[in-house]
Amino acid sequence: MIVLGCNGFTKAAETFAEHFGATGVDKHYILGHDAGAALLVDGKLVAAVEEERLNREKKTSDFPINSVNWCLEHAGVQFSDIDLIAIPWRFSAEVFNALLHEIADAPREPLEKLVTLFHVGNLFAGVLCREAILGDFAARTGFTPDPDKVVFVQHHLAHATTGYYMAGMKDTAFLISDGRAEMYSSLIGEIRDGKFRVFDESTISANDSIGLLFGAITRYLGFVPNNDEYKVMGLSGFAAPPSPNPFVEHFIELHPEGRYTLTVPQDTENPRAHDPLLEQHFGPLEDTVEYKARLAAAAQEMLSVVTNHQLRALEAKTDLDHLIFEGGVALNCLNNTPLFEGSRFTDMAVSFAASDTGVAIGAAVYAWLNHPDNAGHVELPKSVTPYLGPEYDAATTEQALQEFGDQVEWSRLTDDEVVDQVAKLLTEKVVIGWYEGRIEHGPRALGHRSILANPKFPDIKDVINTRVKHREPFRPFAPLVLESDAPKIFEMGRKTRSPYMTFVFPVKPEFRDIIPGATHVDGTSRIQTITDQDTPRLAALLRQFTALTDVPCLINTSFNVAGEPIVCTPTDALKCFLGTEIDYLVLGNYLVTKVDPAA
Ligand SMILES: [Fe+2]
Repeated sequence: MIVLGCNGFTKAAETFAEHFGATGVDKHYILGHDAGAALLVDGKLVAAVEEERLNREKKTSDFPINSVNWCLEHAGVQFSDIDLIAIPWRFSAEVFNALLHEIADAPREPLEKLVTLFHVGNLFAGVLCREAILGDFAARTGFTPDPDKVVFVQHHLAHATTGYYMAGMKDTAFLISDGRAEMYSSLIGEIRDGKFRVFDESTISANDSIGLLFGAITRYLGFVPNNDEYKVMGLSGFAAPPSPNPFVEHFIELHPEGRYTLTVPQDTENPRAHDPLLEQHFGPLEDTVEYKARLAAAAQEMLSVVTNHQLRALEAKTDLDHLIFEGGVALNCLNNTPLFEGSRFTDMAVSFAASDTGVAIGAAVYAWLNHPDNAGHVELPKSVTPYLGPEYDAATTEQALQEFGDQVEWSRLTDDEVVDQVAKLLTEKVVIGWYEGRIEHGPRALGHRSILANPKFPDIKDVINTRVKHREPFRPFAPLVLESDAPKIFEMGRKTRSPYMTFVFPVKPEFRDIIPGATHVDGTSRIQTITDQDTPRLAALLRQFTALTDVPCLINTSFNVAGEPIVCTPTDALKCFLGTEIDYLVLGNYLVTKVDPAA
């Protein structure tokens, strides 16, 4: 059975701009952001890619035409071969009716309600309803799908299924939390023998979204909401949360069954609805690290209070001992480690596609699992890899190199030579673009489109920022480490691995001077554990580097410049290399340097 998962809408951006003012700093507040496609063949995830990697527009919400075409081409599949098309949204008549009632019952002037209805009606009719989605698919692909073969999957169930699949489809409890989906922002439940059960009494409405409140705080601090939340996370390391914490005291209310509400509900027409409360409790906004760090630390603590409250309820409702956490809020890796350590769950997984990058995958798996033909006899995924996107052969790479022939020089090496030479280069204060194989899926670079550097140098962060990334100086860089070495260097607690950079761990005191460039101000690191099985050449490089330096980690940051998607093709990589001060580029088996203009 062939299932295509598909997230993204042609008219989302223009409709949100016209009806909800989602432009400028609000440009990511659009359903369908992180557009992409995934292809499942007999339960095996054979291809997945984010549209932004192909259309080069960060966090694009456009219909993923390039991703769909690439997935089909990669698998040698025609549109007519597809058994099911899965959409990670389910804006049913019930959802629309519930929204209409919510608007009608709101304590507002009739004319205001009519205006809101006009905007919501346009969004439904033009973008989100079944007919609009089917029409969009046909218009962009040229293939008119049989409506009976299109499955609309509730967004949060798509998230849960992504995590379930990536964790090997074992019985699991789940916590899902993001900005908003159809009607909700967070839910808890369990998956047992492939059957999903949502604990409805614990579901959180979209108006009480902790993800959107975190976004409102991100906005207040001068960053881009639904995009820059990790900057708030980074800032929080510079301060302790105030006691008592105004967020916990005045912004949220906890209720039985793991529920919570916001004291000021989300208001789609006033994204700054929380600003007066923020000013009241933290004082007027100051453009200083001290002010922002204090607020960020308080926000982190609030997130911890809320997610712990949900987990206590989940622990009481299920006897399963495995937990998955998915949705954009699960990308807050600083929250994840203590959340897990404070729970009774024996393991907790956060996938590499926990944000909306993963819902095309989750929807496809959900449609496959729930198809009558597959009831009770699906095969478990044998292994799951994030390296699901396009790769480019040596001929394509060489062609790209020729195109930039007057600006670069290169030599073709064996794998062993690459490892040997790059390990030697990394002993110095250099920045290296590392590009190999299929592009990774999800927001983190996981060693196939990465920038590598030596964390032994205390100022390497400034070097990378000056030469390439131009990021805020308060943001840390993260290390990769061999899975077998991780417990020696980091306080791993009950975790044994963190292959997707979704957990943060304290660096053991004796290693803080050995990897100062990858240790955050609070003494932690957001590590990626690697193995010979997952990334053999990168593991060999790290081993060789350690043999030369006694430094057991390498800095790994995404291969892009600020504001741009991670590079995908060899040409993207070469452009980024030439547009920055990256010193060397490893492009598959080619070691590339810049032509010295003086020579
Ligand atoms: Fe989501």
